[in-house]
Amino acid sequence: MSFASFYFGLDRKAKKGSCIKMEKKERSTFKGSLGFVLAAAGSAVGLGNIWRFSYLAARDGGGIFVITYIVLAITFGFTLLTTEIAIGRKTRQSPLTAYTKLNKKWKPLGVLSSVIPLLIMPYYCAIGGWVLKYFVVFLTGNGKKAADSSFFSAFIGDKYQPLIFMFIFLILCAFVVYKGVNKGIENSSKVIMPILLIMIIGIAIFSLTLKEVGDDGKLHTGLQGLKVFLIPNFKGVTLKSFFFIVVDALGQLFYSLSIAMGIMIAYGSYVPDEDNLSKSINQIEIFDTAVAILAGIMIIPAVYVFNGTDGMEAGPSLMFVSLPKIFSSMGKIGNSVGSVFFAMVLFAAATSAISIMEAIVASIMDRFKMSRRSATLTETIIALVIGMFVCLGYNILYFDITLPNGVHAQILDILDYISNYVLMPIVAIATCILIGWVMKAEYVIDEVTKNGEKFARRGLYKVMVKYIAPILLIILFTMSVGVLNLFS
Ligand code: PHE
Repeated sequence: MSFASFYFGLDRKAKKGSCIKMEKKERSTFKGSLGFVLAAAGSAVGLGNIWRFSYLAARDGGGIFVITYIVLAITFGFTLLTTEIAIGRKTRQSPLTAYTKLNKKWKPLGVLSSVIPLLIMPYYCAIGGWVLKYFVVFLTGNGKKAADSSFFSAFIGDKYQPLIFMFIFLILCAFVVYKGVNKGIENSSKVIMPILLIMIIGIAIFSLTLKEVGDDGKLHTGLQGLKVFLIPNFKGVTLKSFFFIVVDALGQLFYSLSIAMGIMIAYGSYVPDEDNLSKSINQIEIFDTAVAILAGIMIIPAVYVFNGTDGMEAGPSLMFVSLPKIFSSMGKIGNSVGSVFFAMVLFAAATSAISIMEAIVASIMDRFKMSRRSATLTETIIALVIGMFVCLGYNILYFDITLPNGVHAQILDILDYISNYVLMPIVAIATCILIGWVMKAEYVIDEVTKNGEKFARRGLYKVMVKYIAPILLIILFTMSVGVLNLFS
């Protein structure tokens, strides 16, 4: 360990007259495993769990998708999550510097994995701003306006409003990150995550009680909608379409667990040595999967009751167009349900944005020996500048290009494509090769079991990290960049 890194973070704020001025300041750690689990779950539970999981499940045969997802979560997801958290704890470094510590030749991987959060943060804040706007609209009793089909496009087409809301969202996240690992991230997660869980359970139960006579004159109930979501629908499923379901579940899982964004390395670097990693990792996975399923129970029955199986489209249109229509069809109570819903989404988005910001701030601090304050300020400015371009991409800088995967794209989609579809799979594949082939799986296993903890999926981990996970990732990567379109 170099002198500089050993003394990294000398306690600059040591009180005057303190004789421990030269004492090494330990890297901040989470106070307990609950704090770590809730912070990591806060990162994992985000916009992806809420709209994307529901939409994919509705499209991909309901229960078939849900079961495939769960199987992949306990094999593939568990492998990548364990790897990143263990790398973080073992090296006590953020993504930018952690890989170099593992092996000097792999320094570029650290750089690549730090570019990812840098690209994601600005557009995630732009979307966070949209959520904030909708929360305000419903809270002020104007939900009916948001139900108008043109409301969303008029809002993002406006030059100023999206910028203002993005700015507020960004500043809130920056404040939490500036407060640090314990006072900021850990404490806020401990408050936000339980509230989020209660809200989502509440709305899910409400959604199941909905009833409405549809245009076809038939009574649609929430429970029927639940069946659409959970019961496997094998109709029309062929080997080929099942392959696509697996690829969808894989992509969703990857994004949902905040893997390959540098986040879990950064958070792992704050986990105390005594913490039982495999227990915490199980809890993070259960939390993330449970929220995704609850989100499905909340959204699919509501859409089904009011819209039938239409309107479950992906992306912004589900959250910002279809759901506001549904809230308004609920009558008077719609504004309250909408407020709770968007408050919940806001919490989910904020804890994810905080984690992605922390991955960057920790990297700047570790690499350039900056104070937390200057690092946070630097990243806030970067996110603000790129975020402005993202927001203006829907009005004065508007253009429309088609990406290799066929999606029509504006600036936001381009950043999303480069990070999620290109860079993240590359980083994950390289990480599996580094651990599975260069460092060997024992590197991670030793870290997980260093206090004599049991590691029940040890054998599975070895096979996954060395062979299966990289192969699955290569399939995912080649399909998402459109190079390999095996079946079309
Ligand atoms: N896991 C998050 C989600 O499901 C993804 C994410 C995390 C995105 C952190 C950005 C920042 O939405």
